[in-house]
Amino acid sequence: MATFENITTERLEPGIAVVRIDRPKALNALNAKTILELQLELSDLAKDSTVRVVILTGAGDKSFIAGADITEMKDLTPGEGVIFSQAGHEVAKLLETMPKPTIAAVNGFALGGGTEMALACDFILASDRAVFGQPEVALGIIPGFGGCFRLARAVGWPKAKYLIYSGARIKADEAMEMGLCAKVFPAEQFWDEVVKVAQTIARQSSSAVTKAKQLMVEFSETTGLHYKIDGEAHSFGRLIGSGDQREGMTAFVEKRAAKFEGI
Ligand code: CAA
Repeated sequence: MATFENITTERLEPGIAVVRIDRPKALNALNAKTILELQLELSDLAKDSTVRVVILTGAGDKSFIAGADITEMKDLTPGEGVIFSQAGHEVAKLLETMPKPTIAAVNGFALGGGTEMALACDFILASDRAVFGQPEVALGIIPGFGGCFRLARAVGWPKAKYLIYSGARIKADEAMEMGLCAKVFPAEQFWDEVVKVAQTIARQSSSAVTKAKQLMVEFSETTGLHYKIDGEAHSFGRLIGSGDQREGMTAFVEKRAAKFEGI
């Protein structure tokens, strides 16, 4: 089994794999290396017949994934931006289409790429301390890991537009009301409840669960999405290198408010 720098995988009975993003100092933000590690690990788990359910979560109790790594994105070129977005799409596609259920266990901040990776899973279980949002416009960019489509699919176009244009952060109860989460559990019991859900699924007929997932992927037009989504990667790349992107990300790193000029 491969060992990685930024993710760990724990096995629980019966047939549950828990993949944890493990960069707590950066609130589990996704840099290029972590995205690559996720791609490798999820590809292996997709093929592993001993695994019936995959849980994606974040290390520590503060954050699921606080988005793509702003420090790393800050100085990307537009071409590198396209490649970065496409790599995130590959991870999202694996979560969405692997022939076994994927559960996002959102234990804290799920912002930007964090909400997007959670949305790519089959469903989201959230702690009552979870916070969701797509704050990319505050950084001079757009969601780059499929958010413009998957958020709308989950909550409907008007609410997705509200969240993406405003960058608003919402708490678990509001996310539940909007249809983003399947369940919200109190933080103290969160992990036990997540494992119970995964165990219940893992004890069902895996061939029946896999067939249900395959059909729902087809009915939700996900296959069409995978053809269209490259447009998002190119739009994301075009914004990388713009004045507003450099200003937005520099302001985040310098811990100050951004001054945008719309260029
Ligand atoms: N990238 C890189 N580093 C990050 C990060 C990110 N997305 N989010 C947090 N961190 C780092 C902070 O820089 C800080 O590092 P230092 O201790 O070295 O200063 C550390 O994690 C702790 O963060 P804060 O001190 O900011 O913690 P807080 O509790 O005050 O705030 C927070 C938490 C609200 C999540 C805040 O960190 C935040 O707003 N993070 C950015 C969220 C964001 O904008 N995400 C979207 C990224 S863009 C994206 O994801 C694009 C895409 O679709 C592909």
